[in-house]
Amino acid sequence: MAWNKIGKSDELKQGEIKEYNINGKKIIVSNMDDKFYAIDAICSHLGAELAKGKKDNNTIICPKHHAIFNIQTGKVEKNINGLFKFMTRKDASDLKSYEVKAENNEIMINL
Ligand code: FES
Repeated sequence: MAWNKIGKSDELKQGEIKEYNINGKKIIVSNMDDKFYAIDAICSHLGAELAKGKKDNNTIICPKHHAIFNIQTGKVEKNINGLFKFMTRKDASDLKSYEVKAENNEIMINL
């Protein structure tokens, strides 16, 4: 694990999310009440890009089958519905979350 500079903290406003590609790994970083959080950007169900989903308070809704993830912890808040589960034979699982800090207007992630 190492701290990686990923961008300027003043470019990610309160309530916004942004996708970053760090050494080939896609991560969503969010600014919630001026604290930064980072989770995997690829849905654990069938690989949809979560940055294309709808953000709703502290959650993000997968654009493909609508699993809902907490953007601060990566935990599944609501899994896919029964029809999608039946069709795909798979649940969504918690996403990995990462340590983030902001210093001197730099966002850094421990990855
Ligand atoms: S790919 Fe995200 S819920 Fe299915």
